[in-house]
Amino acid sequence: METVLSGIRSTGNLHLGNYFGAIRNFVKMQHEHNCYFFIADYHSLTTHPTPDDLHRNVRQVLVEYLATGIDPEVATLYIQSDVPEVAELYLLLNMNVYMGELERCTSFKEKVRKQPENINAGLLTYPVLMAADIIIHRATKVPVGKDQEQHLEMARTFANRFNRMYKVDYFPPPYAFNFSEELVKIPGLDGSTKMGKSEAEGNAIFLADDPKVIRKKVMRATTDSGPEQPGEDMSQPVENLFNLMRAVSTPDTVQHFLDAFNGATIRYGDLKKQLAEDIISFTTPLRERILEISADDAYLGKVSRMGAEKARESARKTIREVREIIGFKPF
Ligand code: TYM
Repeated sequence: METVLSGIRSTGNLHLGNYFGAIRNFVKMQHEHNCYFFIADYHSLTTHPTPDDLHRNVRQVLVEYLATGIDPEVATLYIQSDVPEVAELYLLLNMNVYMGELERCTSFKEKVRKQPENINAGLLTYPVLMAADIIIHRATKVPVGKDQEQHLEMARTFANRFNRMYKVDYFPPPYAFNFSEELVKIPGLDGSTKMGKSEAEGNAIFLADDPKVIRKKVMRATTDSGPEQPGEDMSQPVENLFNLMRAVSTPDTVQHFLDAFNGATIRYGDLKKQLAEDIISFTTPLRERILEISADDAYLGKVSRMGAEKARESARKTIREVREIIGFKPF
């Protein structure tokens, strides 16, 4: 049995990208592997949330994780800041990570471009904290979307470097993983190729969105003026809608609209109506579970305490061994 670990940042509600990129596979994996799933609330501090927002977001992600079918009795479901050993490992790893390699990281460069007013050191060392999250449980498989591939490569580099530096074979190298499928990137509705929490308004469909909101967002999705003759190339925004449809609709439905596109008879309004209804059928049971679980404070308290205890047990063991490898020994 291998150790699997994955996390979601607590910066807002979960969207279809999170679900299809990572969570869908968490649910499949929990019975086959030793699974750790967590809420990355330390990571969310790079965006400077207020204490109330921080707490509300962590709670919401916990509720939504549970609503997708993660069983806290089977998998270890925990909140990152409940396991401060992660912060210690992050500190230790930071000593062997170089500025140049962090500055070259694509997600860091993107932040520098998008939010020049808040380039904090936490953003720069974000991949180190991610590596600590993963190797604290010596996980080898990390279910993530395509956007996290480079971070996983960095986690491997840092784990291998530790082993080399101390001449040990302690941390196994972790790999991005998607349950025998390719890593995916779910597109946004605004024509951009990625659905994301921090993208423009209307880009993302959240699992908790109600049907009216979903219809409105989908009907407003970016398209183009439509093919004028059979066999035309598809523009990115239209391809995005087809990719979303591949995630939630039946293959027959997708084929029907593809044929209409290729024959230049497509009406985007029809495609959007169908896509909205298929998204609603998909999210409705999740939304109902979200509402149900969200009303149960006692259950959420129990789940988070149980997760913290299980995760800390594994993290404490790693920190004890790492301290010894590094040379921190009791007198
Ligand atoms: P986050 O919170 O941005 O996203 C959580 C998971 O959802 C995936 N994802 C997507 N997959 C496909 N298409 C999309 N449009 C899309 N948007 C998001 C992400 O790839 C991710 O798997 N840094 C991480 C959280 C984290 C973590 C970790 C993950 C912290 N420590 C250790 C794995 C292991 C993040 O911000 O994910």
